[in-house]
Amino acid sequence: MARQPGGDAGAIQIAPSILSADFADLAGALAAVDAQTDRVHIDVMDGHFVPNLTVGPAVVASIRPHSTRYFECHLMLTDPGAYLAPFAAAGADGCLVHVEVGGTRALVEHARSLGISIGIAVSPETPIEEAFAWLDAVDLVLVMTVHPGFGGQAFMGEELDKVRAVRAELARRGLRVDVEVDGGVDHATAPSAVAAGANVLVAGSAIFGASDPLAAAAELRAVAAPR
Ligand code: DX5
Ligand code: ZN
Repeated sequence: MARQPGGDAGAIQIAPSILSADFADLAGALAAVDAQTDRVHIDVMDGHFVPNLTVGPAVVASIRPHSTRYFECHLMLTDPGAYLAPFAAAGADGCLVHVEVGGTRALVEHARSLGISIGIAVSPETPIEEAFAWLDAVDLVLVMTVHPGFGGQAFMGEELDKVRAVRAELARRGLRVDVEVDGGVDHATAPSAVAAGANVLVAGSAIFGASDPLAAAAELRAVAAPR
């Protein structure tokens, strides 16, 4: 049975991205921020869909016993369908697939058959309307606020128009779907993302690049709290 994300209904969820953590001590990095973590964001890159390489199912399986949190694998892969089952077997609770790779219906059905949740990710060059066909089929929409591939890039504020648009469309259809932003999210940019309608915040460098990652995650939660 897949785990559920933490946080109360309607609360902002904080998702530390391990991409900016110490890969020699991922268990320690997750433990350090656990008290301020609602889900763990794991960036999976194939050197083809994006120009970077990161981790595969073996790393997810290795860190799985060290955290009780919901694990989401952000699959920046040309062929995510080949890896849904291996990531589910490794302990992923959900996978995020990019709408740009196509074959979304089969990916959603495959994820459902594996008992994991599924989200659809939209890169900056992609109109948000391409995600609209899947809103009643997915658990989450991920709006990229950087070009995928690397941590530590500058937040693209203009992408918040997509957050507003997808939130409005979800409201129009009466759907409860999480809206997540990923890339350049920090204490300065998080409030605008939440104001636009995001309820899940991915942060890599803003958390693991800080001298006190737990305090940084707590600060992110504090500035993002709806007021
Ligand atoms: C980028 C990844 C992000 C990355 C964010 O392709 O999808 O999850 O870790 O890193 P920051 O928060 O440093 O922009
Ligand atoms: Zn990501």
